[in-house]
Amino acid sequence: MLSGFYNQGDTTWSSRGPSAKLVVITQFRTVRLSATTTPMAQAIRIHEHGGPEVLRLEAVTVGEPGPGELRLRQTAIGLNFIDVYQRTGLYPTSLPAGLGREAAGIVEAVGSKVRGFSPGDRVAYALATSGAYADVRLLPAERVLRLPDNVSERDAAASLLKGLTAHALLRRSYRVRKGDWIVVHAAAGGVGMILVQWARHLGARVIGVVGTEGKAEQVRQLGADHVLVDTTDLAPRVRGLTRGKGVAVVYDSIGKDTFAASLDCLQPLGMMVTFGNASGPVPAIAPLELGRRGSLFLTRPMLFDYIKKTADLRKAAHELFAVLGTGIVKIHVGQTYRLADIATAHADLEARRTTGSTVIIP
Ligand SMILES: NC(=O)c1ccc[n+]([C@@H]2O[C@H](COP(=O)([O-])OP(=O)(O)OC[C@H]3O[C@@H](n4cnc5c(N)ncnc54)[C@H](OP(=O)(O)O)[C@@H]3O)[C@@H](O)[C@H]2O)c1
Repeated sequence: MLSGFYNQGDTTWSSRGPSAKLVVITQFRTVRLSATTTPMAQAIRIHEHGGPEVLRLEAVTVGEPGPGELRLRQTAIGLNFIDVYQRTGLYPTSLPAGLGREAAGIVEAVGSKVRGFSPGDRVAYALATSGAYADVRLLPAERVLRLPDNVSERDAAASLLKGLTAHALLRRSYRVRKGDWIVVHAAAGGVGMILVQWARHLGARVIGVVGTEGKAEQVRQLGADHVLVDTTDLAPRVRGLTRGKGVAVVYDSIGKDTFAASLDCLQPLGMMVTFGNASGPVPAIAPLELGRRGSLFLTRPMLFDYIKKTADLRKAAHELFAVLGTGIVKIHVGQTYRLADIATAHADLEARRTTGSTVIIP
């Protein structure tokens, strides 16, 4: 029997003898639990919004899967910028809260009324709710995806949420066609690298925008037609590359700092897809600004609206796994961190020190 004493906010266990019960101290109460029937996990939680220092490694109870649930032993967790928005409070959340939206691993236990999964299956998920920063957790089986043999757990954790986002952006927000000129901001980032490769495969001509020359070289290697370093004079440079015409669509994940320049890159009837706030949220805009620039379209997509129906999730994942499995889109994991080092991972992502996807190993 597992037994021990756990101090909240501390990662060390001290044994109290072979027959002791597991004691979990939470902020508000002490709970006595039988460890044989109540599996435990290590999870990252926040009790207040703020900088990376608010991320705390804690012991949490997991329990047995209920009807329709799986228990997953996670082997790789994806880091996403949305985790930062949730940590800082830009996206409001009730506290205390777990963090993280996606991971991959091995099914450990299956609840009643679950069809199609068995212990030992390799799976991944991207959820609208948080809690992926953990070594073990329960999940709704309906939203879990079985991994094809040619997609590793590490690549799945690095690419499921980001790849489903790329699918929504390229295939649904604006359906990219052969010959379209497109702009991709943060092209050396997790979502950005997938967008560049997939868009090239669809026949688009890609102008990537990045923060450093080192990142630019990585994006060139992915097949981008042009890469611009920093966003100074973005619109005139994009017009220069497109013989004055402008682009069919801009995929802008930077937000506040780049929104206005991105609008100026578009051709008449072009589509502005503002899908992130890495530099801060975009301020209000008058509809007349879209008319003035050539009857532009503007959308602010949120991935989970596109995959709310399980059928849509499975269809998008099927297309994503096809481009991953055939090597059309290669996943670049630029850095990995231990779960206990999650604060460093957040700090690096926010400081623009990461490239490609980031994977957390529980
Ligand atoms: N709407 C949705 O449903 C949805 C879903 C998934 C992701 N997203 C968005 O997609 C974007 C990319 O996500 P990701 O997880 O793959 O992150 P990421 O692109 O790997 O990292 C963010 C990148 O943004 C760039 N950046 C420019 N200005 C920045 C600033 N002031 N602060 C921080 N970064 C800045 C940096 O690249 P450079 O140094 O090259 O500029 C940085 O590496 C995020 O904005 C995220 O919110 C949206």
